[in-house]
Amino acid sequence: MAAPLDHTDDWWRAAAIYQVYVRSFADGDGDGTGDLAGVRARLPYLAELGIDAIWFNPWYLSPMADGGYDVADYRAIDPAFGTLAEAEKLISEARGLGIRTIVDIVPNHLSDQHAWFRAAVAAGPGSAERELFHFRPGRGENGELPPNNWPSQFSGETWTRVADGEWYLHLFTPEQPDLNWSHPVVRQEHEDVLRFWFERGAAGVRIDSAALCAKDPDLPDAAEDDTTPYVDRDELHDIYRSWRAVADEYNGVLIGELWVPDPDRFSRYLRPDELHTAFNFDFLARPWDAAELRASIDTTLAFHAPVGAPATWVLCNHDVTRTVTRYGRAEDTGFDFAKKRFGTPSDLVTGTRRARAAALLSLALPGSVYLFQGEELGLPEADIPLDRIQDPMHFRSLGVDPGRDGCRVPLPWRADAPHYGFGSEQEPWLPQPADWSAYAADRQAATEDSMLVLYREALRLRRTETGFGDGPLNWLPSAQDVLAFVRTGGLICVVNLSEEPVELPGHTRVLLTSGPLDDGGRLPQDTAAWLRS
Ligand code: GLC
Repeated sequence: MAAPLDHTDDWWRAAAIYQVYVRSFADGDGDGTGDLAGVRARLPYLAELGIDAIWFNPWYLSPMADGGYDVADYRAIDPAFGTLAEAEKLISEARGLGIRTIVDIVPNHLSDQHAWFRAAVAAGPGSAERELFHFRPGRGENGELPPNNWPSQFSGETWTRVADGEWYLHLFTPEQPDLNWSHPVVRQEHEDVLRFWFERGAAGVRIDSAALCAKDPDLPDAAEDDTTPYVDRDELHDIYRSWRAVADEYNGVLIGELWVPDPDRFSRYLRPDELHTAFNFDFLARPWDAAELRASIDTTLAFHAPVGAPATWVLCNHDVTRTVTRYGRAEDTGFDFAKKRFGTPSDLVTGTRRARAAALLSLALPGSVYLFQGEELGLPEADIPLDRIQDPMHFRSLGVDPGRDGCRVPLPWRADAPHYGFGSEQEPWLPQPADWSAYAADRQAATEDSMLVLYREALRLRRTETGFGDGPLNWLPSAQDVLAFVRTGGLICVVNLSEEPVELPGHTRVLLTSGPLDDGGRLPQDTAAWLRS
């Protein structure tokens, strides 16, 4: 076993963290599914990209009813991905290249194939095994109605009835029964799982659906739009304080997936004895609009400051529409789960230009930044043929929501290889679009103005120049619809979201631009620049 690694510095306050969705990153054994062998082979690519850490989506044993967010055993790697020994090797090889590992823990629910749930179903009503979940008799004359009216996070039903007549709660799919977080055994088990991964060298843990675990113990009906019985409950803070105590034993970092819209409630999770950071979904959800982005930046910084936590900046992940596609739309360039529909048109030239500018914006803001695999290649959201869609979100919406597969398509590595070099023989688990050769990593590495070259250069500067990462930000006076700010040491970032080209603020050096300046040296529409004052 790898010795516990030293993570004593505050690396997480300014890190560039790359999200690997293992299933779609690189296929080492040629069976059509990405795996740990594929990741190990591509570690040099990630080192060259210049990232500080990798967050791996769940890689544990799973029936994959929800892409691995249905965990059957936290201490085993799914055989489709590899073995535990291989995960340990991967963690230590990455560390050798200066890259830390963040694992993904899913505390709200387990797989229905997890030993605990199987035992609970078998043991029957009233058993100790059932107390680990939320089993209840139904309502109605014969218990034929679900115990309450809570809506699902994925549309569709939230309760499923087992053969003996009791119902169990699942905020996601029926294959993901919710755990009862008021039970001490549930708490103890998760603290043990955290130790298990920290002892294997993980530097951090991403906490899935972190605002959902605690429930009102009475499981009361909820009024429409009232999420208080199951979202953002005060009991959660005590749970994460215990997690923090465990993490501190290893200098480990806790990162919350918190969809909590109220910024004051959100920042409570980031108090010094709770989580270290949380994903900034407010920024991700905003449209491509200067006032909106500036408002998000100001709110984010204002609410992080009192708790001393660094902000994070996220433009996309495995759950949301890819950035270039969103930003290429004529309207609704923000993100909203409720608005995802098939066939929304997007101008990818505009979207790509904006995504390039947004990359420089987010990499220059104070705090840490997340990149989702393929973002550095500027991949658009792919259209998945109906008969190949896998995501339960699509099926549970009765086909209205296209689901999340369009951002999870296997990566294109080599323009001229079968399946763009993702794997060798088998067709990838999700189809890749026929026109993706220009997005392939090898093609982009050789193209001066590609997205990959932009990201490599930006990440290099972010590491070598002063003023990036944690620290203050001061807005500069600017034309309307232009964002311009200066960081410590005179690092300036300016982004032009207006329709007209604008003069650059005073500077001594242009470090990088997301696109060419015009003939007069001005910054064109949807373009960003990094300058030295
Ligand atoms: C989180 C994950 C998402 C998953 C859900 C249920 O939101 O990011 O992919 O489906 O939780 O675990």
